[in-house]
Amino acid sequence: MGKWIWSYIKKYSFLMASGLLLTVIVAALNMVNPTAAGQIVDRVIRGGEKSLLLTFVLIMISATVLKSIVRYGYQMIFEHVSQNIIRNIREDLYDHVQKQDFSWFDRSPPGNVMTLMTGDLDAVRHFIAWVLYQIFENIIVFIFSIIVLSSINWILTLAFMIIAQVIIFLVLRFKNKIKPSHTKVRDQFARLNTRVAENIAGNRVVKAFVRENYEMERFQKENMTYRDTTVDNANVRIAYLPVIESIGGALPVILILLGGYLIINGHLTIGELVTFNGLMWAFTQPINMMGNLVNDAQRFAASADRLWELKCRKSKIVNEPDAVAAGRVKGDVEFKNVSFKYNEVTVLENISFKAESGQTIGILGPTGSGKSTIAKLLCRYYDCTEGSVLIDGIDVKKYTLDSLRRNAGITMQDVFLFSDTIEGNIAFGKPDATMEEVKKAADLAFASDFIKDLSAGYDTIVGERGVGLSGGQRQRIALARLFLMNTPIMILDDTTSSVDVETEEQIRDSIASETSGHTTFIIAHRISSLEKADLILVVENGKITDRGTHKELLARPGYYRHVWLHQNGYEGDIQTNHTGE
Ligand SMILES: Nc1ncnc2c1ncn2[C@@H]1O[C@H](COP(=O)(O)OP(=O)(O)OP(=O)(O)O)[C@@H](O)[C@H]1O
Ligand SMILES: [Mg+2]
Repeated sequence: MGKWIWSYIKKYSFLMASGLLLTVIVAALNMVNPTAAGQIVDRVIRGGEKSLLLTFVLIMISATVLKSIVRYGYQMIFEHVSQNIIRNIREDLYDHVQKQDFSWFDRSPPGNVMTLMTGDLDAVRHFIAWVLYQIFENIIVFIFSIIVLSSINWILTLAFMIIAQVIIFLVLRFKNKIKPSHTKVRDQFARLNTRVAENIAGNRVVKAFVRENYEMERFQKENMTYRDTTVDNANVRIAYLPVIESIGGALPVILILLGGYLIINGHLTIGELVTFNGLMWAFTQPINMMGNLVNDAQRFAASADRLWELKCRKSKIVNEPDAVAAGRVKGDVEFKNVSFKYNEVTVLENISFKAESGQTIGILGPTGSGKSTIAKLLCRYYDCTEGSVLIDGIDVKKYTLDSLRRNAGITMQDVFLFSDTIEGNIAFGKPDATMEEVKKAADLAFASDFIKDLSAGYDTIVGERGVGLSGGQRQRIALARLFLMNTPIMILDDTTSSVDVETEEQIRDSIASETSGHTTFIIAHRISSLEKADLILVVENGKITDRGTHKELLARPGYYRHVWLHQNGYEGDIQTNHTGE
C-alpha cells in the first residue's frame, strides 16, 4: 500500500531529498544557540574572555536568520511537492473511478466516492506536506541533541534517555489503539456523506412523500454515530497524549536536581548546564510531538487503506488482450443462449435471437422482466454469465470497448443530462459536431420546437443554475444525442414513454427514417411504439416467451395480444389465454 503512494513521491525524490537535507541543516543550526549560550557563560562571564562576546552573539544571530531562511525553503518545497503529488494521485484515481464498470457504480454510493476524493486525499496530502518532514525533523533534532548532550555529560543524557524510553513505549501503545479508531471515524464520515449526497439527489422524492422527518432522523442517527466515534477517538487521544506530555515535563526537574548535584561535585560547569537547558526543548519537542505525529500518521494510514482498496478494484469489463478496434460494423446482432445473473440472481435465461443489419427489433414485456438488461449486455455494460452476444458474427468481447460503444448507441431509460448547454448535451457523443448537425438531430427528435422556446435556445444551461426540463423533453434530448452519434446499432430503451401520443407518432416516423439502415432495438411498453418492427420479442421473467411480427403475435393468445387489447380499449375481452406465465 505504502508502495503505491511511494511511487508518486518518487517522481519528486530530488526535491524531497533536498527538502530533507534542508531539514537536517535546520536541525544542526538548532544546536548552535544553546552551545553558544553555554560558551558565553563559561568563557565570557566566568572566564572573562570579553572579546569573544561579540563573536558568539554574531554567531547566534546568523544561525537564527539562516535557520528561518532554510526553514522557509523546505516548507515551500514540501508544500509544493505535496500539492503536486496529490494532484497526480487525484487525477489517477479519478481516471480509475471513471474506468470502473457498471457493477462497481451499482454498489458505490457517490458520497463514499466523494469522501475518497476529498477527505482521504487530504489526509494523504497533510501527511506528505507536514507530518513526513516533521517526523524527520524531530528524529534528526533528537539525534543531534543526544550527540551534543552526551558529548557534554553522558550521565545527565542517560537520565534523559530513560524518560524518553517510557514515552516511546507509551507512544507505541497509543499508535496501535488509535489506528482502528481513525478507520472507524473515517468510515462513519463516509456514511454521513453518503446520506447527505443521497438526500440532496433524492430530495424531490423526500418532499413528495413528506418524509423530511424520517430523513432527518436517519441523518441524525448517522450524525450521532459520527459524534460517538469521534468522541471515542478523542478519548483514546486524551488518555495518552497529556500523559506523554506530562512525562516530558519531568525533564527540567531531573535537570535541576541531577545537574545541580553534578555541578556541586564538579562534573558539570554552569555553562554546560545552560547548554543542557537550552537543548532540552530539542529533547522534549520530539517527545511532545511524537504523540500528535503518530496520531496524524495513523489517520493518514486509515485513509490510505481506503484509497488503496479503491486502487485495487479492477474493472471486470475491460478490453480482452486480443480485442480489435472495429470500424463501422454492419450491424448484425445475435444473442446465443445468453443467461445473466446480477449477483447470483438470474435475470435472463437462455435468450437467443438474431437481428440482421437494418432490421428493427421490438422488445416488450412487463416491468422488471429483463428488457433493459438485454440492451446492457449488447453494449457490454455487463458480461453475460453464459452464452454469447455477437455483432457481425463476432463476440462483443472481441471488440475494444470504445469501438463497441461507438457502434452500439443507447438512450437509457433514466435519461441523464449534464449541467451544460442543450447543445453540449446533444453533442455529448460527438463533440466536434457542427451546429447544423446538432439542430438536425434535434429536429428529428422533435426537440427543436421546445428548445427554441427556451430563453437562450441551444445555449440554455440545463440543471442546477439553468432551467429544468420535463421528462418528455429530456427524453427527446437523449434521442437527439443518439441520432447525432449515428451508430449502426441503436437502442431506444423506453425513449418515448414520457412523450404524448401525438409527438410519439411523429418521433416514430423520424425513428423509422433516421434509423433505416441501422439495426434498431425499441424497448417499450406501448405496443404502438414497436408494432412496425421486423421482429418483436416478448420477454417475461427473464425469458423470451414469444416472438414474431405484430400480425403474428396478435393472431395468437398471449401477453402481446393481452396488452394490445388492453391498450386499445378492449378490456372486456379477457377470454384470451395469458400464456406468458
Ligand atoms: N444493477 C442491478 N443490480 C441487481 N439487479 C438488477 C440491477 N438492475 C436490474 N436488476 C434486476 O434485473 C431485473 C431486470 O431488470 P431490467 O432493468 O432489465 O428490467 P426491464 O425489463 O428493463 O424493466 P422496465 O420495463 O421496468 O424497464 C429486475 O428484476 C431488476 O430488479
Ligand atoms: Mg428497463
